[in-house]
Amino acid sequence: MDAESNSPAVAPEERFFLLRHRDFPAIGDLDVYRQLGGFEAFQKAVTAMQPGQVTDVVKASGLRGRGGAGFPTGIKWSFIDNANWPHYVVANADESEPGTFKDREIMEGNPFQFLEGVALCAYAIQAKAAYVYLRGEFWQLAAWLDRKIAEMEAAGLLGDGLFGTGYSLRIYTHLGAGAYICGEETAMLESMEGKLGQPRLRPPFPPSFGLFGKPTVVNNVETLTNVPLIVSRGAEWYRTLGTDKSPGVKVFSLSGCVENPGNYELPLGTTFRELLFTHGGGIPGGRQVKAIMAAGASSSLIVANDEALDTPMDYESVPRVGAQLGSASVIVIDDSINIPWLINKTMHFFKHESCGKCTPCREGTFWMVHLTDRIAEGKATLQDVALLEDVANQVKGKCLCALGDFSTEAVLSGIERFHSDFELAVTGSKIAA
Ligand SMILES: Cc1cc2nc3c(=O)[nH]c(=O)nc-3n(C[C@H](O)[C@H](O)[C@H](O)COP(=O)(O)O)c2cc1C
Ligand code: SF4
Repeated sequence: MDAESNSPAVAPEERFFLLRHRDFPAIGDLDVYRQLGGFEAFQKAVTAMQPGQVTDVVKASGLRGRGGAGFPTGIKWSFIDNANWPHYVVANADESEPGTFKDREIMEGNPFQFLEGVALCAYAIQAKAAYVYLRGEFWQLAAWLDRKIAEMEAAGLLGDGLFGTGYSLRIYTHLGAGAYICGEETAMLESMEGKLGQPRLRPPFPPSFGLFGKPTVVNNVETLTNVPLIVSRGAEWYRTLGTDKSPGVKVFSLSGCVENPGNYELPLGTTFRELLFTHGGGIPGGRQVKAIMAAGASSSLIVANDEALDTPMDYESVPRVGAQLGSASVIVIDDSINIPWLINKTMHFFKHESCGKCTPCREGTFWMVHLTDRIAEGKATLQDVALLEDVANQVKGKCLCALGDFSTEAVLSGIERFHSDFELAVTGSKIAA
């Protein structure tokens, strides 16, 4: 099922809501975007809606954050502290999770819908400055967005006294240095303040203590790109897409052992089977799917049996098969892959990206690399596997930010659900992918 077939309200030529450049390749041109109704939602909001009404419609739509946690967006906006000013918006364009490549396509292909979403969020919380925080490797994308922002300024869509009202807004891009941890919202705010990118102790959360200590909404790029649709077409329309508790469409980044990797915009609630086999073209070389990581490298390993394949990909259903939807970066693992080898690769990533601020994560990722190296090299015993599990349990739930937990997901689920692969690895009979 695609987005079109799930919504009778959609015009026949319109197949995409977020990846709209696939329907309208020139949508990155301001005139084309405006011909397609672009910036009407922002103008309507600024000229005819109270800021709180914008928050209310986003709340009513049921939109949930697409950066990983699935937190309800309108509720987050309503937490902004109105006793403390100024307010800021920060769009999270760090996109560093291995397996995630959706925000990049949105910003490259459909930049104005994203920037309009930033502007609507800013109006809703009455921020006069909004920032787009991009990972350092996205420097070309930052230059592209700078050009789009300049075009908006020239067209009177950003700047002072917008649409003849007293509301003013400017948007700026900000490049990080390329650290995964700077996608964590409080590390990102520290980085923007020119400090070391390390998470803050929370609470307080950004809506009360954010950028420069001021109330700040941090939202993912994809989350914000939904907002112009919701404001222009209404919350009720939005709820015709997806499921009751996970409304809307989602861009699923599909990678790994699959014929057609790429981004797929589909309603939330689409099954893994449909993504992998109908859209992704199945597993190459006649192999069988063995495991699925639903949320990139941070994911638990789902055993790819019939129950899992028939599970709808939404925030409520994926936990029923022992994982999280996260940012919906679906990595497919076929039966040629040795799970200890795969886990060893993820551990190297997490050890490299651990910011070192808290001991369980800093030391735990070091020891988990050490042990998984030994297991993957076929030099370990089952006692080492038990020690690995013990170390992961010492890390899980004991860290300052979620990176520590993320580093244990594949380890703990892998040992529990694919134990025979570890037994093979420790005998040295199967040591590489
Ligand atoms: C280690 C780590 C990395 C993260 N990386 C990203 C990221 O690249 N992009 C993102 O939007 N959120 C990322 N997040 C989640 C953010 O902290 C935050 O929850 C999110 O940007 C909020 O936006 P949303 O409500 O629209 O999802 C990360 C979280 C952690 C713990
Ligand atoms: S859990 Fe890891 S990444 Fe997060 S603050 Fe602690 S050391 Fe840093």
